[in-house]
Amino acid sequence: MANNQSWIRSHTCGDARRDDSGASVVLAGWVMNHRDLGGVIFIDLRDRYGITQVVFRPEENRELAERAARLRMESVVAVKGTVGLRPADMVRGDLATGEIEVVATDLELLNDCRELPFMIRDDNDASDETRLKYRYLDLRRPVMQKNILLRHRVSQTVRRYFDHQRFVEIETPMLMKSTPEGARDYLVPSRIHKGCFYALPQSPQTYKQLLMVAGFDRYFQIVKCFRDEDLRADRQPEFTQIDVEMSFIDEDGIIQVVEGLMAAVFREAAGIDLPVPFPRMGYDEALLRYGNDSPDIRYGMEIEPLNELVGRSGFKVFDDTVSGNGAVRGFTLEQCGPLSRKQVDDLTEYIRGFGAKGLVVIQMKEEGASSPILKFLQPGVAEALTDRFSMRPGDALFIVADRPAVTAAALGNLRRHLAAAFGRIPDGTFAPVWVLDFPLLDWDEAEQRYTAMHHPFTSPKPEDISRLATDPGSVRARAYDLVLNGSEVAGGSIRNYRRDVQQLLFSTLGIDAETAERKFGFLMRALEFGAPPHGGIAFGLDRLVTLIAGETSIREVIAFPKTTSAFSLMDESPSKVDEKQLDELGITILKTEE
Ligand code: AMO
Ligand code: AMP
Repeated sequence: MANNQSWIRSHTCGDARRDDSGASVVLAGWVMNHRDLGGVIFIDLRDRYGITQVVFRPEENRELAERAARLRMESVVAVKGTVGLRPADMVRGDLATGEIEVVATDLELLNDCRELPFMIRDDNDASDETRLKYRYLDLRRPVMQKNILLRHRVSQTVRRYFDHQRFVEIETPMLMKSTPEGARDYLVPSRIHKGCFYALPQSPQTYKQLLMVAGFDRYFQIVKCFRDEDLRADRQPEFTQIDVEMSFIDEDGIIQVVEGLMAAVFREAAGIDLPVPFPRMGYDEALLRYGNDSPDIRYGMEIEPLNELVGRSGFKVFDDTVSGNGAVRGFTLEQCGPLSRKQVDDLTEYIRGFGAKGLVVIQMKEEGASSPILKFLQPGVAEALTDRFSMRPGDALFIVADRPAVTAAALGNLRRHLAAAFGRIPDGTFAPVWVLDFPLLDWDEAEQRYTAMHHPFTSPKPEDISRLATDPGSVRARAYDLVLNGSEVAGGSIRNYRRDVQQLLFSTLGIDAETAERKFGFLMRALEFGAPPHGGIAFGLDRLVTLIAGETSIREVIAFPKTTSAFSLMDESPSKVDEKQLDELGITILKTEE
């Protein structure tokens, strides 16, 4: 190719169709694979938009075909040629360009590709580490391109939706004041103010409240948040929120806006019609029936309280638990067939991980109920249990007796574990549910004090405020979580907009007036200048996109994620810095990790 801009394209690799037959085109992209059929070279050329087959015929240009045969996988090339129709028996139904091919007249290798660490295919067997180290190659895989484009579609829908609803997108600082509560902060040392630190925001919470004081009325932002906490599949040290705040609003108003957003996102990004309104569930009910505050309602296996049935059962574990104000609860797995001794032992081991002391399994066989504990039970108790769950032969009942929190955690996790293991989770369904009526406070056993369950700016229910002094544990919050398929995708609350209530809350949390002033003085002051009633919510965008994409880890929808030890394998951060940089900051490193 003579000119030096051979890569200026006439079409993408996903464009050409039947109608283009005979057209002269210039394509550019990556060499996916090539086949040599008796000297005729076929190349699949790939870019973001699709795949086009390119043919090099030695009888027309031997030199060109020979060069094509030498191209390496994933090298980047420009091709000039003519669109031709494929023979009818060669049409590929799985490709949008499957009816055509480009017969090459010119080829330029724009840049070669060295030996690949893994194949650019969805079904490659590269380790997670290798994928992260060569993330730019991993991102070339079709599934990753699809995920990132889905994320883009979701973000654009979010922006359009909020704009239509007269929300204002406002950026808030990335360098802010370090405040206690919540997760650990990422700190940024100041060069100008030696010995002082900014914190990266865990969320824009205080800023968005101040924007309500400033009168913006409806705010949203798609924003990075930073939390130095232990990571798992659904947590990253930096993640993205769809952050929302509204003035003169109550719970129902926020819920309505969010349901509209979810419906728009699912419709436009996934082509799914999500019926609104979403069901609502109290926190207590979620804990009782699902064992946690992010209930997965896509399948049954609901947990039932059994204290009344087994309070005087004759089985000491049950009787003692009931008389000691504990909780005996259970759920059934239908038609799982007989469970082996080993299976039962493994499940018992599994729930011990959540603090439970044991697991009772009652299996229904053709000849009747079967369990090692039946021999301890008073007559009628076993029947009462199996009747309660309408058990049929092949069903199994799982019972745990412990402190209510332990019973809930053990059975909640076991329920999820068994649903997954026995294929009881329906594919491709989306089951949102609101969880409401959270307690305002959480008792921290280690620190022997209350902490805010959501965050300290959350408003107590007005009818409960009087109990803040006498019985703080019983005070409920004006907080709400949106749970999707068992994953908390959004959480928020109506805030304290009056200074006296906020002050009362800080003191209940053991934050004295002086500390409150030092840490949150700016917010407290703002509440004295005509702060309107307000509330809001924040979505975990990564989690939402992960669920829509059908992935299991949020890493699959983040372009450049970190490992579970908060390390970036690609650019190797965090990393040591020069002495000079440290000097400028007035920092001396005392301990390092080799
Ligand atoms: P919260 O702390 O519940 O609320 O966060 C809101 C949502 O963000 C997501 N999320 C995360 N996603 C990935 N990695 C993490 N480490 C992570 N941490 C949280 C979750 C969660 O539901 N300012 C308040 C919101 C408000 O009150 O308006 C807040 O940040 O999906
Ligand atoms: P043990 O009397 O400890 O041998 O327990 C008898 C059966 O009861 C075993 O199957 C235990 O797993 C089960 N078990 C023991 N403690 C509990 C408990 N707190 N909740 C449910 N089952 C239990």
